[in-house]
Amino acid sequence: LPRVLSGIQPTADSFHLGNYLGAVRQWVALQETHDAFYFIADLHAITVEHDPKLLRKRTRVSAAQLLALGLDPARSTLFVQSQVPEHAELGWIMQCLTGFGEAGRMTQFKDKSAKQETVSVGLLTYPILQAADILVYRSEFVPVGEDQRQHLELTRDLAQRFNTRFGKTFPLPAPYILKDTAKIYDLQDPRAKMSKSASSPGGIVELLDDPKVSAKKIRSAVTDAEREIRFDQENKPGISNLLGIYSALTGRTVDELVADYDGKGYGDLKKDLADVVADFAGPVRDTVKSYLDDPAELDKIVAAGSQRAREIAAGTLARVYDKVGFLKG
Ligand code: TYM
Repeated sequence: LPRVLSGIQPTADSFHLGNYLGAVRQWVALQETHDAFYFIADLHAITVEHDPKLLRKRTRVSAAQLLALGLDPARSTLFVQSQVPEHAELGWIMQCLTGFGEAGRMTQFKDKSAKQETVSVGLLTYPILQAADILVYRSEFVPVGEDQRQHLELTRDLAQRFNTRFGKTFPLPAPYILKDTAKIYDLQDPRAKMSKSASSPGGIVELLDDPKVSAKKIRSAVTDAEREIRFDQENKPGISNLLGIYSALTGRTVDELVADYDGKGYGDLKKDLADVVADFAGPVRDTVKSYLDDPAELDKIVAAGSQRAREIAAGTLARVYDKVGFLKG
């Protein structure tokens, strides 16, 4: 089976709709047809200042959400990044292949570093670690949202560079990005992506939020001064975003929705979308709660996944160490 890999950072109390529709939903689908590796990127989460207690809690909440959203540890390898030291070890090799300027050109680094008072070197090398995450499993496909595209280009460049210098070792991984859900937008600022770190609370729909809170956020979503419900990304980004989310969660096409809402108002659309979101998120919340009732069991599930992941990662790392000329220990 072709191999897929992806990761998510445990940097918020809840995943948001962008994380789910842009990424995790595809992870769940791909576990049926691919050799799937999915992980919680806790090493990436410490590139900005963090609270250890909160990190541990959010790592468990992330695992619980992934399980509640449909990842099946029997069909995919679900693990925690820090439990597989080979990521950081291959990361070092990849750092030594990356140009200083090349790392500095990453737009996410530029955005994030502009917002931090102090910028760690880890924030700069973050995308190189991400490349190692992908390459250490010799992954072929990486299901992510649009915002990760540049990091995947770097990953391909590094894979190619390693292959050229040391002999063919890595397949070049392809981004797996679904056009309709590649970028879910902030409800308050519908030209910006919905983001854990950048959106105001009113702009993000969190899966674990109280449905009343989500309904209120959707009702208050920024739209436009017209009345007509139609999809027009350029001139009606707010309404287009709501239609996109609605379509993704119900499986109905945007055209069908537009036809249905002909003659109705923005308020009707928002109210119905709030119901759709509540119907989706309600059961997820309940399942997450029940997983969190037994954190020891949750820790066991991910530790087992990490062990499985390590077997593959260690194999790749041994080949890499040999190719770069390290002595066998
Ligand atoms: P993270 O934790 O920011 O986001 C997790 C996934 O959610 C997607 N996403 C979105 N998709 C559509 N619309 C949005 N508004 C939106 N916001 C987030 C992201 O594209 C991502 O797929 N660097 C990664 C984590 C990572 C990783 C990896 C991913 C570390 N190593 C290796 C793939 C492969 C990140 O910060 O994702």
